[in-house]
Amino acid sequence: MCGIVGYTGHREAYPIVIKGLKRLEYRGYDSTGVALLNGGLKVYKKKGRVADLEEFLVGKDLHSHIGIGHTRWATHGEPSDRNAHPHTSNSGKLTMIHNGIIENYAQIKKELLTKGYTFTSDTDTEVLLNFIEDIKENNECNLEEAVRVALKRITGAYCILLLDEADPETIIAARKGSPLVIGVGKGEHFLGSDASPMLEYTKEVVYINDYELAIVRPDELILKNLGNEKITPFVTKLDLKLAAIEKGGYEHFMLKEIFEQPSTILDCLRGRLDASAGMITMSGVQQNIEAFKTAGRIIIVACGTSWHAGLLAEYIIEELCRIPVEVEYASEFRYRNPVINKGDIIIAISQSGETADTLVAINRAKEQGAIIFGIVNVVGSSIARLSNGGAYTHAGPEIGVASTKAFTGQLAVLTMMALKIAKEKGTIADERYTQLLFELESVPEKVEALLKNADAIEAIAEKYKDASDALFLGRGYNFPIALEGALKLKEISYIHAEGYPAAEMKHGPIALVTATLPVVFIATNDTYHEKIISNIQEIKARKGKVIAIITEGDDVIPGLADDVFYVPAADEIIAPILSCVPLQLLSYYMGIARGVDVDKPRNLAKSVTVE
Ligand code: AGP
Repeated sequence: MCGIVGYTGHREAYPIVIKGLKRLEYRGYDSTGVALLNGGLKVYKKKGRVADLEEFLVGKDLHSHIGIGHTRWATHGEPSDRNAHPHTSNSGKLTMIHNGIIENYAQIKKELLTKGYTFTSDTDTEVLLNFIEDIKENNECNLEEAVRVALKRITGAYCILLLDEADPETIIAARKGSPLVIGVGKGEHFLGSDASPMLEYTKEVVYINDYELAIVRPDELILKNLGNEKITPFVTKLDLKLAAIEKGGYEHFMLKEIFEQPSTILDCLRGRLDASAGMITMSGVQQNIEAFKTAGRIIIVACGTSWHAGLLAEYIIEELCRIPVEVEYASEFRYRNPVINKGDIIIAISQSGETADTLVAINRAKEQGAIIFGIVNVVGSSIARLSNGGAYTHAGPEIGVASTKAFTGQLAVLTMMALKIAKEKGTIADERYTQLLFELESVPEKVEALLKNADAIEAIAEKYKDASDALFLGRGYNFPIALEGALKLKEISYIHAEGYPAAEMKHGPIALVTATLPVVFIATNDTYHEKIISNIQEIKARKGKVIAIITEGDDVIPGLADDVFYVPAADEIIAPILSCVPLQLLSYYMGIARGVDVDKPRNLAKSVTVE
């Protein structure tokens, strides 16, 4: 999951490339570099952030009208100057950046070493570049043909951009499994892992598909498949605004995106939910409604936070629609030999729409005839385009590595889907249906209300910021939120945290409870409230510290817990969309208190496009 940027046209390339890298830094940030071409190739790269590279380049000759740039999340080879991209071929005439993993690079490297090639890095990228050069030299073909031949002989995932010193206007690009967007301007073209580097220059973009190769010049974009057949580029219009990818006055993207949730949830519901009319309009669901009504089973595949949304969907869909649901980690599902029956529906949940494991999982399922329904945030992303039908979460670009507003968007979409299907199947009483529609419609204002008390969460975070471990417990619909709260805390504050079904504590984990262990209960009013109170008492009896997310008006748990945070009352099916928000804030403020760069936590990247 690296960030890739390219430009060829009439403007100075460096400013566009370096600003584009800053916009893509959330995809990887352990090392970075740029290559410019003016008279000869100039490659500058180093370990560290884009800002470090920018400082390093002050005073250097950066004049060029063509350039490529890369910000890395290390796969092969530790973060270092020599492993940073761009890489240069043995001849010094070719340079390349790459997002992905070449799985058979070791064999290729061995062959190249016997031919006398040398390598300055540990990366698979440098191997692929010299493989291309070797083919170009030995087959006496042009670079485009050499790239095509090489890509047919490698296995793995790639998005590559190449420059050839002999061709000062052309960028050759290709992708399989890692995203690539090309922006079309007047006498110029922009390339990026997503649209953010080109947004201020053009809204006309072409999403490149797997196994496609692009020859990009200022006035020309030629698209071909690996069989050398021309493809007509399909230009679509972006509806993103620049402000959506800026911090908007917040210190971090993560905080901005947490506070955006009243409006992003509203955007998700807009045009779909009309509680007064008792209507849910979701064209993607409607087009597949017969398949949903007759589905023998729904299999949800996802990773990370999106998997937690899927787990909550299992509870909601089974309760409302009476359809059996299985939730699978995409990374496990794709390697197993899963049984997929005729009539099974696969729901793929993904913020980025590019997660490699989820992509492969749905390809596997598609091969076995399953219908794929994608719930995705990034418009035009690979999973969205692979799905038979779908629903966008409309949360806007999510830049913070920790998924927050996309998660609540996923929950809103999944809840609407379940209600729509249940209504169509007749498995929900009219009164219950109407009640839940109005409950869902009130979520944005309830999130707005609880965000006003963010400083209460900040105080709790300050109190527990030195904890080394934490437990998150919930029952029923709140169990997936316990898992999500634990993941947030892990990835943002680096505190080891585990989520558990609250009742599971007595089967072992309660041995962990000590006076220094914070235990977070998601304990909003629901079917299990009495039981969760008993669980809190079990923890208190062992001197554990209890933080409880509770419903306004709860007058029992405040007498038991060490710290509480109130959320507005809501039906137990709807409450998780509210109770996850204070947990997002808890991880944010604990991360800040511990000095973590919360938008770019160590070892992570926003979109896991490698397997
Ligand atoms: C969430 O906070 C994490 N950054 C991560 O678990 C993420 O949810 C996961 O990688 C799945 O990403 P996706 O939704 O883009 O597929």
